[in-house]
Amino acid sequence: MKIQLRDYPLTSTIIKLKTGRVQLTLIEEPDWFLEQLGREDKEGKLYLPYWTYLWESSIGLAHHIEKIGERLKGSHILEIGCGFGLTGIVACQMGARVIFTDAEREALRFAQHNADQNGVHQHADFVQMDWNAPCFNHKFPYILAADVIYEEHHWTPIVNLLQGYLAPNGVALFSEPSRSNAIGFFKQLCDNGFVHQKSICPVTLDGQICEVCIYTVRREA
Ligand SMILES: C[S@@+](CC[C@H](N)C(=O)[O-])C[C@H]1O[C@@H](n2cnc3c(N)ncnc32)[C@H](O)[C@@H]1O
Repeated sequence: MKIQLRDYPLTSTIIKLKTGRVQLTLIEEPDWFLEQLGREDKEGKLYLPYWTYLWESSIGLAHHIEKIGERLKGSHILEIGCGFGLTGIVACQMGARVIFTDAEREALRFAQHNADQNGVHQHADFVQMDWNAPCFNHKFPYILAADVIYEEHHWTPIVNLLQGYLAPNGVALFSEPSRSNAIGFFKQLCDNGFVHQKSICPVTLDGQICEVCIYTVRREA
């Protein structure tokens, strides 16, 4: 089925990596769409569709995935909050099979289109999934999560998802742009039997250089 993205003004960008490049179709005016698609959630809290941006965290995680690529070959990987799909696409290029998930159907349409145009669609599945209600019946050796811990109410469902869906020796890779509240999330992970290692990846986005934190998370031995 051909994906139609023509409801949106589109632009495209190329993310250059060491071993290759990823071409992404993006929304041209994400600020405008963020406002248009914003809505109140069940508790009356403003919900903003952050998938309309490509975040620096996904570029940082893409670089990291490329670095550890050999280990991912042949693995079945779950990505949560995939947005435009960059990190999962790089994992597919490294030889993994990825289930791209996001709560937003529109984000998945873009991720699928982007996987298609980078020739990795045969290694990719797309599932609309809210991390408050995960829908799989098996565990994953790798879980990818770029910029998903920005709001505290996401933390408990994401920790629960790791407890339920990360294989016993599995690795979850998180990235985030060094926000001060991230420390609270990693403390909660630690309180629930996980350990992590942190590294920093410099990223350039829209001409700006920023630091993305990469966290490698495992169950405590
Ligand atoms: C800040 S964006 C990051 C997108 C992408 N990973 C990146 O770094 O460019 C957060 C993503 O999480 C998704 N998201 C938000 N709440 C979610 C939920 N409850 N379940 C699943 N995905 C969710 C959003 O739709 C969005 O794609």
